[in-house]
Amino acid sequence: MKDLSGKLAVVTGGGSGMGRELVRLLVAEGCHVAMCDVSAKGMAETESVCQAAGLPQGVRISAHIADVSNEADVLRFRDEVKARHATDRIHLLFNNAGIGGGGSLIAVDRKEWERTFNIVWGGVYLNTRAFLPLLQAAEEAHLVNTSSINGFWASVGPDTPHTAYSAAKFAVKGFTEALITDFRMNAPHIKVSVVMPGHIGTALRVNSLKVQTGTDEDEIGAAAIAQLRNRMRSMGQDPSGLTDEQVRTMLLERAKRFVADAPTSAAEAAQIILDGVKQDRLRILVGKDAELIDSMVRADPDHAYEPEFYDRFAAGAGWYAGR
Ligand SMILES: NC(=O)c1ccc[n+]([C@@H]2O[C@H](COP(=O)([O-])OP(=O)(O)OC[C@H]3O[C@@H](n4cnc5c(N)ncnc54)[C@H](O)[C@@H]3O)[C@@H](O)[C@H]2O)c1
Repeated sequence: MKDLSGKLAVVTGGGSGMGRELVRLLVAEGCHVAMCDVSAKGMAETESVCQAAGLPQGVRISAHIADVSNEADVLRFRDEVKARHATDRIHLLFNNAGIGGGGSLIAVDRKEWERTFNIVWGGVYLNTRAFLPLLQAAEEAHLVNTSSINGFWASVGPDTPHTAYSAAKFAVKGFTEALITDFRMNAPHIKVSVVMPGHIGTALRVNSLKVQTGTDEDEIGAAAIAQLRNRMRSMGQDPSGLTDEQVRTMLLERAKRFVADAPTSAAEAAQIILDGVKQDRLRILVGKDAELIDSMVRADPDHAYEPEFYDRFAAGAGWYAGR
């Protein structure tokens, strides 16, 4: 799909990061957008960024509060999109919303683990199911599912358990690749892409904690601090000597660095994703770090989880220690 003007795109997680940047690029090309998020504040900011850039004449943006892991929310979101845009079809579905957390199967609370898995995998599955009839009804359509480099490499370093997110991202990648044959047989006008970003400079760390602890406030509260302490323990660190204020400061510094020292910005990532969609690419690797780890895992899968393998990757990708 090369010309996006007059089309309708649905973007999940449009209130921050890559989702926001995708919305910005889509409307700039004259594409109508319906986004959802759990953060009303985030979506309001996305809308005002688009308005400030000058919304092209007649282009509609709609914002819908919906938790992508909750089927009732997703179905309501779909029905609201149909009503607000007065249509029974959409051309693009970007399943982008996601959170981190649920690192250890052993040390982390089951609720946290399943929240991550259900948002990252369930969100993609439920939105695909809900919007499929609208993609089928369009004359041309494209489904874009955001996985990660963790969709083919289940690690962010040898000392950091990363089970829920990796399991979910592998599922997203497998599902999307299996849809190639399914769509070829049953809905040949729907194209698919799986997006695999490396480290992208977004507020993912802080937003994940907000979603995990059920708040849209910027304040890092007691529940978030407790979760961070537990995460440190799961990584063999002892947080007992740290005050809550020190844990909070550590998180905010790491979150700031996660944006500032990322090899790829959210805006660059969104441009790579949209270019890939227009070129009809099945696999969209985002960032030089993503390209490097893809080739390294293919070359030496048996050692992909060894500390030396990680060190070689981190040095080549420019990943800093304590990321
Ligand atoms: N930032 C990275 O380094 C990176 C790397 C690989 C993959 N990804 C993936 O990219 C996608 C976008 O992440 P980002 O980095 O832009 O993060 P982000 O936190 O900036 O944006 C994600 C958005 O999704 C929303 N969201 C979270 N849970 C939700 C839910 N249950 N329902 C609806 N909305 C929800 C958040 O509120 C937020 O606005 C995610 O799927 C993430 O896993 C990110």
